[in-house]
Amino acid sequence: MNNGLPRPVTAVIIVAAGSGERLGYGLPKAAVPLGGEPILMHALRGVVASGVSSQVCVVLPAEAEDLHQLCEEFRQELADGGPLLTLVVGGSTRADSVRAGIAALMDGVEAVLVHDAARALTPEYVFHRVVDSLAAGAVAVIPGVPVVDTVKTVARTTGADTAIAPEVVTGTAPREELRSVQTPQGFRLSTLLQAHEAASGFDEKQSAAVTDDAMLVELLGVRVHAVHGSTQSLKITTPLDLIIAEGLLEGPLGIRWVEG
Ligand code: C5P
Repeated sequence: MNNGLPRPVTAVIIVAAGSGERLGYGLPKAAVPLGGEPILMHALRGVVASGVSSQVCVVLPAEAEDLHQLCEEFRQELADGGPLLTLVVGGSTRADSVRAGIAALMDGVEAVLVHDAARALTPEYVFHRVVDSLAAGAVAVIPGVPVVDTVKTVARTTGADTAIAPEVVTGTAPREELRSVQTPQGFRLSTLLQAHEAASGFDEKQSAAVTDDAMLVELLGVRVHAVHGSTQSLKITTPLDLIIAEGLLEGPLGIRWVEG
């Protein structure tokens, strides 16, 4: 697994403070049950099992007593020598939640992986690939998988065209150059801090356009590397994703056989 290079002191921030409205459960997404326990607990166990971090900082929704309680119980389960588990409350945007996590990092952390709780089934090898890339000198590294669909840009139709269709195609992106990007996204702490400091001055429209941390680092003009992720690392967003995740956990093949 390890590329043999000394790894930086690493923390993982798990952002779990989203509302999860698209799942339609009336619960924060991190609290929605998957295979009998909340989505967050799968993500948290996966991060700890990967063994990549000295600290795991979980960013929770403000009103989620049950999740706080489960994380506290998990903290007690962790064997001596496990990572430090820190719990903080998130903000109204994902970037605010990441900043809340950064503010709670312990002294001595050199690298940070930001991971979505919604990617509850991310295989351990993805964490290792990201940390190995940081150890090899990357300042920012993200996992991604090739895109299977052809991706086109569109614009809304206007005038008489609206009677034909709501949108018109404006271009086709070259598929071999596209990646569906996932988490954990890894950064040298100093770079992630700089990126989020720059973003704190964004207006509402600019903030809404920021969909991952790597994008903020790209805006700094810093080189972002990409490693191969995993299709198993799906982001549970819609009811269909939940069905797929349940299938991965309970299906006849068993999750450990899912690769790629
Ligand atoms: O909303 P979306 O699915 O893009 O969220 C991605 C991740 O960011 C989720 O794990 C969610 O819990 C987290 N998030 C957060 N704070 C927010 C919004 C999203 O921690 N305000």
